Amino acid sequence: MKIAELFKVQGYGVIVTGGASGLGLGYAEALAENGARVTLLDVHPQRVAEETKRLRSAGLDVRGEVLDVTDHAALDAAFEHAVEAYGRLDVVFANAGVDSGPGFVGGWVGSERPRVAEGSLENYTDERWDRVIDINLNGVFATLRAAARHMKPRRSGRIIVTTSLAAVKCEGAIGAAYMAAKAGAAHLVENVALELAAYNITVNAIAPGFFITNIGGGHAKNPAVQQTVAKHVPMHRVGFPDDIKGLALFLSSPASSYVTGQQIVIDGGWGLGEAD
Ligand SMILES: NC(=O)c1ccc[n+]([C@@H]2O[C@H](COP(=O)([O-])OP(=O)(O)OC[C@H]3O[C@@H](n4cnc5c(N)ncnc54)[C@H](O)[C@@H]3O)[C@@H](O)[C@H]2O)c1
Repeated sequence: MKIAELFKVQGYGVIVTGGASGLGLGYAEALAENGARVTLLDVHPQRVAEETKRLRSAGLDVRGEVLDVTDHAALDAAFEHAVEAYGRLDVVFANAGVDSGPGFVGGWVGSERPRVAEGSLENYTDERWDRVIDINLNGVFATLRAAARHMKPRRSGRIIVTTSLAAVKCEGAIGAAYMAAKAGAAHLVENVALELAAYNITVNAIAPGFFITNIGGGHAKNPAVQQTVAKHVPMHRVGFPDDIKGLALFLSSPASSYVTGQQIVIDGGWGLGEAD
């Protein structure tokens, strides 16, 4: 294959859950700008309407549908609609996710790491635990299942799950449910990759470090938070959705045809430890 063909996704049918904001929107743009036909599935109606309109008016082939990934029947139906609309399903990003509120320490601003009662184990509520597991882990399971149902008969496909650096490295300022959900999703990626490899379906994870998106009510947009995080990141800066586009295109395209079951960390070196 010629090198110019390796990253070609022209005409691909793509679904991105949580596709109307942040990293999901970055994936959608990366694929659509390269000629793919992209369905954004997102629980936020206003974002779905606005981003679909914006991308379509830029000449991209994008459609949007309001969907909560915790509604598995609706998720299956949304997959059907996307396949009906675009005639094929080549790439699925299981990306929808939420934060889980405070962890057992604070520390997003400044150098202090005070204990936080609300995030401590003995105060952790069932509601908080269940909501995060339902979206960040059960939602990934349902998305992988829907993808497999469409891709297996075609014996071809790419599935990419957004996990987190939190899947491989504990961080006290992130809630317990988030850590568990992301680690669970990462291991699920390996198991599903193993199962689907014989069907020419690759399943990989992107594990981001700290990116400026709307997660957690957009707390990452606070310059003081960014300053604190940048001090710990060896590259001395936070990430932006543009930083993730190349990896998304790689994992979606023929360039990664022999890569499966991998979790690729993209974090400016944060997971390596402290440098200077
Ligand atoms: N931003 C970071 O630093 C970071 C780091 C590691 C992992 N992640 C992961 O990246 C993914 C994308 O998050 P982001 O940072 O772009 O946040 P974001 O809030 O900007 O985007 C997430 C999108 O998911 C949607 N969503 C939330 N719950 C949903 C549900 N039940 N059904 C459908 N859509 C739903 C939201 O409406 C939103 O548009 C998440 O899985 C998150 O855990 C983010």
